[in-house]
Amino acid sequence: MRISVIGCGYLGAVHAACMAELGHDVIGVDVDQSKIDALSEGRAPFFEPGLPELLKAEHGRLRFTTDISEVSHARVHFVAVGTPQTEGSNAADMRFVDAAVDALLPHIGPGHLVVGKSTVPVGTAARLAEKVEATGAELAWNPEFLREGFAVSDTLTPDRLVYGVRRGDDRASEVLDEVYRRPLSTGTPRIVTDYATAELVKVSANAFLATKISFINAMAEIAEVTGADVTTLADAIGHDARIGRRFLNAGVGFGGGCLPKDIRAFQARAEELGVGHALAFLDHVDRINVRRRARVVEMVTEELGSELKGAIVAVLGLAFKPDSDDVRDSPALDIASQLALRGVKVQATDPEAIETSRARVPLIDYRPNTRGAVEGADIVLLLTEWREFRALNPAEVGAWTSARTIIDGRNCLDASQWRANGWKYRGLGRS
Ligand code: UDX
Repeated sequence: MRISVIGCGYLGAVHAACMAELGHDVIGVDVDQSKIDALSEGRAPFFEPGLPELLKAEHGRLRFTTDISEVSHARVHFVAVGTPQTEGSNAADMRFVDAAVDALLPHIGPGHLVVGKSTVPVGTAARLAEKVEATGAELAWNPEFLREGFAVSDTLTPDRLVYGVRRGDDRASEVLDEVYRRPLSTGTPRIVTDYATAELVKVSANAFLATKISFINAMAEIAEVTGADVTTLADAIGHDARIGRRFLNAGVGFGGGCLPKDIRAFQARAEELGVGHALAFLDHVDRINVRRRARVVEMVTEELGSELKGAIVAVLGLAFKPDSDDVRDSPALDIASQLALRGVKVQATDPEAIETSRARVPLIDYRPNTRGAVEGADIVLLLTEWREFRALNPAEVGAWTSARTIIDGRNCLDASQWRANGWKYRGLGRS
């Protein structure tokens, strides 16, 4: 099939490359020339495992352009632009989605299908459908559930496909079945529903995941004042199949370009709809999450004394999670900058996220590796659980620094091993 993908960010670039991998002819469109240049040369503009290989594939089915008129050759048009948080409000900023659809309108007509992938406030698809249908084209909403770091495999082998279509629009479903023929052939569950349900599936999934993480982080707060161990607690409750162990890792909490802004936009939309009370609990989910960051700053103060100015703190990890260079609303970068603002000299490192961090927070002293970050430090913080940090040898790190306190913000280290090597180990919600 001939497919266009509007927006070539974390979502769109991966989607375009994966659609070509599935055998379709794909044109990716973005307004950012530097992004298009990089993608056209087979370079990923951000770190995502597996994406460079797909971009370099020699099948000739994938092109990128800034010229929106080139989409007229395609019949299926995915809208994959961002919906960030609006400045000064909790609501989603819909300018990019509206601009993308408006830009498409002159180039579509009967026989074309526009497919929304962006995460949007419920009601958006119905609103956009009127514009799209005025051209004779149709609209479907097909939310994306990909996780950064696993974006390629999540797109090629999704755990479910959701199509939001106009009631009775069998053609839109048939077209999407053709697009996703390969994953469907391996038994991927497919749910066909109305626009509102499809939009809500996405935000409610993210709200649930955020709630699960904040639940265990709330238990960490209780563990901290009772001497209990939240990791053992998570293991024990996770054995209950109704609860499950995944997404029960307590630590510095969730960040990234999705969970934080999605729960805020969901609340803002519920308030607009007059049912804000239904999602009032998400405000607590958000607060628990942000409190964990403050708690780490407090723990550093407990260790170093109230006079933080001039102290040297080593920060291992800046990305919002491992296998990503994304620092949007990253708990790690937030903690590092809160400390820097208090006059601490922060020496930070990350395998992939130094440049993305530097662009946002220049006042941190970025170091190329762990050894550089811990040299001369008074205390070490592990804030993103990259494999190389999880595998650190406490004796070796101890030879690089005179610091003997480590705060494990992801509860990912073996506490007894660090203690056995002379370190004071502190986790979050762990005795
Ligand atoms: C999320 C959803 O998982 C995905 O389905 C959706 O499409 C986009 O948003 P992503 O933002 O890539 O994906 O990251 P995810 O793996 O969900 O992690 C989100 C945050 O939660 C990270 O900061 C991570 O470190 C944190 N987290 C995750 C925890 O703090 N504890 C956990 O147990 C799991």
